[in-house]
Amino acid sequence: MSTPVILAIESSCDDTSAAVMAGGEILSNVVATQQVHEQYGGVVPELASRAHQQHLIPVVQEALRRAKVTKSDLDAVAFTQGPGLLGSLLVGSMFAKTFALALDKPLIAVNHMRAHILAHFIRAPRPQFPFLCLTVSGGHTQLVIVRSALDMEVIGQTIDDAAGEAFDKTAKLLGLPYPGGPHLDKQAKLGNPTRFPFPVGAMPGYDFSFSGLKTAVMYFLRQQTAQNPNFIQENLADLCASIQHTIILTLLRQFTRAAQDHGLTQLALAGGVAANSGLRAALTQLGEERGWEIFIPDFEFCTDNAGMVAMTAHFQFEAGAFADQLSSPDPRLKL
Ligand code: KG4
Ligand code: ZN
Repeated sequence: MSTPVILAIESSCDDTSAAVMAGGEILSNVVATQQVHEQYGGVVPELASRAHQQHLIPVVQEALRRAKVTKSDLDAVAFTQGPGLLGSLLVGSMFAKTFALALDKPLIAVNHMRAHILAHFIRAPRPQFPFLCLTVSGGHTQLVIVRSALDMEVIGQTIDDAAGEAFDKTAKLLGLPYPGGPHLDKQAKLGNPTRFPFPVGAMPGYDFSFSGLKTAVMYFLRQQTAQNPNFIQENLADLCASIQHTIILTLLRQFTRAAQDHGLTQLALAGGVAANSGLRAALTQLGEERGWEIFIPDFEFCTDNAGMVAMTAHFQFEAGAFADQLSSPDPRLKL
């Protein structure tokens, strides 16, 4: 087996995941998604930590089993240090530290946002450095110039809600289940994206703003349902398509401007919202129009997963960037 063999743990939010990578090749990636939050319409941090405690050991065992790797084959243990929910991060980091100590193996602390970006290197086609990455998840929206696996610069980010939150919060206003992003995406396929024009958050530079959209949708629905209580049910697909269209316009406008200004022709999409079919199609079309290369990872590696943590840890292992037993989780860790 090629080295290094790395076991990686991801527990920053509501997915418990473990992955094994050998010599940069992914051998397993096991994800246990917590269902417990659905009934509350959002992630409940305390419940997330408890669910991580229940899931972590079986998930690690399964990752090792699928990879046909034993504990003694491991060269390092990696974990997500942040950003994320403190209680959730603590469960993963304590496990990784204990495991590394017991096995007498080095420890690698990984930044979750870097991991979303480096997910592009798990499978071909892989971008070449430098490239521009738009990371869109439930907690973050960032435009990043990626100069190397270890050298990244955030040039724009959301000043309020993340793109995933914009999907989830507007979906909630429409009565769709949590997390609403995938439900809204499904409905949007059946609707007219230009039927209801919502405001596109205009920000200077490369920053984003989504809270105006949520407020505009809320007032619009309030006004319409006062006249027709069935307005949402009767217009669901068009509402979803129009909201999705607005979010995509907001994202792609800044993405395009940043690419032009920095002369970057490889554009990569990362994070859970990269699963959105409308965004994938619009970005692919943009690439065709401009002659830009577009990179979107497999769905498995877009949403939270330990495979991307293993990939990042692989680069850090090569660079000798190890952590020690004193390293602690950082819920606000910067890229
Ligand atoms: O990266 P991720 O799994 O977790 C975080 O780190 O936040 O992203 C989850 C987010 C949620 O907001 C979810 O609604 C959104 O990704 N999402 C989608 C789709 N699939 C997942 N949003 C829009 N369309 C989708 N198909
Ligand atoms: Zn994430």
